[in-house]
Amino acid sequence: MNAKPKVYIETYGCQMNVADSETVAAILSVKDFEYCDDIKNADIILINTCSVRDNAEQKIWNKLDHIKGMKRRNKALLTGIIGCMAQRVGDKLLEHEAVNFVAGPDAYKKIPNIIDKVKKGEKVNETELDIEETYHDIIPKRATENNITGFISITRGCNNFCSYCIVPYVRGRERSRDISDILNEVEDLKNRNYKEVCLLGQNVNSYMHGSKGFPHLLDEIAKFAPEMRIRFTTSHPKDLSDELLEVMAKHKNICKHIHLPVQSGSDKILKLMNRGYTRDWYLNRIKAIRKFLPECGITSDIFCGFSGETEEDFQETLSIMQEAAYDTAFMFKYSERPGTYASKHLKDDVPEEIKLKRLNSMILLQNKLSLQSNKKDIGKVFEVLVENFSKRSKEYMIGRTDSNKTVVFQKQNAEISDFVMVKITDASSATLKGEII
Ligand code: SAH
Ligand code: SF4
Ligand code: F3S
Repeated sequence: MNAKPKVYIETYGCQMNVADSETVAAILSVKDFEYCDDIKNADIILINTCSVRDNAEQKIWNKLDHIKGMKRRNKALLTGIIGCMAQRVGDKLLEHEAVNFVAGPDAYKKIPNIIDKVKKGEKVNETELDIEETYHDIIPKRATENNITGFISITRGCNNFCSYCIVPYVRGRERSRDISDILNEVEDLKNRNYKEVCLLGQNVNSYMHGSKGFPHLLDEIAKFAPEMRIRFTTSHPKDLSDELLEVMAKHKNICKHIHLPVQSGSDKILKLMNRGYTRDWYLNRIKAIRKFLPECGITSDIFCGFSGETEEDFQETLSIMQEAAYDTAFMFKYSERPGTYASKHLKDDVPEEIKLKRLNSMILLQNKLSLQSNKKDIGKVFEVLVENFSKRSKEYMIGRTDSNKTVVFQKQNAEISDFVMVKITDASSATLKGEII
């Protein structure tokens, strides 16, 4: 009876949620819970959820029906829904037979108390947002099976209120963490032999602590951990400064990769989206990246079918993709989110079949652009951080270049988490193939 309760955490959504799950694991581990990695052995299941599109929420409802079955077989099993969907949907989730509690992104320190209450039979909804909460005093509990890349949140929340986006509502106002807390986390990763750190924020460029902005923070981290690779995401185009590009150029260990979501290529749509930049401004930023960092990988998020998007607007999206020549892109179709400006004031007026058709055209074009970009690398030599065995064969391994491209190569003497030099011999739209030299 005295055994520690076993907690299983399943994570959906963006890397911010991956980092948050590690924070939750850390909060629970000091309170006498045990972390377990098989849902079948769990006493408590936590699902860390995403709300960004409707299909992300549908996945969770399906998952809950599955857990309902598990709970019928094991009456003591408890389930908590945490994260962005917990914040947005709250009480309606709590009504589901499988759910014992919901806790939003700023309520994680309360989870041990919530579990005490839930054990007494209460259903608990803890979804107050807290402008002060940055979990500054918590060193996340890193998943043990991968000690290659560690994620560190440098900001929480978002103030941009893009008209389609739920994130500012479920994550609250933007707050930046203290540089010294961030450096403590980098040090923790260093001590555990991590090879790469990825700094996270909805808009890392608006990081501001006291009078120190993101270029300063990045410079400090690059100096502090010269032997580690440093990445960051996401960069908002409206705040991408030359100063940042200069800091990136100055340090060899800052990876030359910028994820710069464009969302649309039409000025009319960008304005309706409240993105805060025009097509020209965006293309100008791309030019600046190519000037300061000629070898820099550039990737994007794009979605079609937003309110008022005509065929002409959509053609401008295809043409900006071509002009920017992305290495890869995440592509979506618009999903109206209740409570956002767009859901209240704009009509979701592009028919579903047109959204799908446009999405397919974007994917087709991006595959072509990715192939072009990858083919240009044939013959070049890259430093690759070895991440895993290839799924197809233990004779092959996969890793990533500085510019964030995936490379497959014959194992030879390489081990996971080594840096190796690989010469590229072939390329598809998804991967580079090469040989260790
Ligand atoms: N902070 C990041 C994005 C976070 S959400 C940024 O500003 O770039 C990740 C991506 O999901 C967005 O870039 C956008 O392309 C997509 N997205 C967000 N809301 C969406 C919606 N309502 N429908 C479809 N895609 C959406
Ligand atoms: Fe959403 Fe815009 Fe904030 Fe990104 S910047 S999280 S798209 S509101
Ligand atoms: Fe989803 Fe929340 Fe991230 S809505 S994309 S998990 S910030």
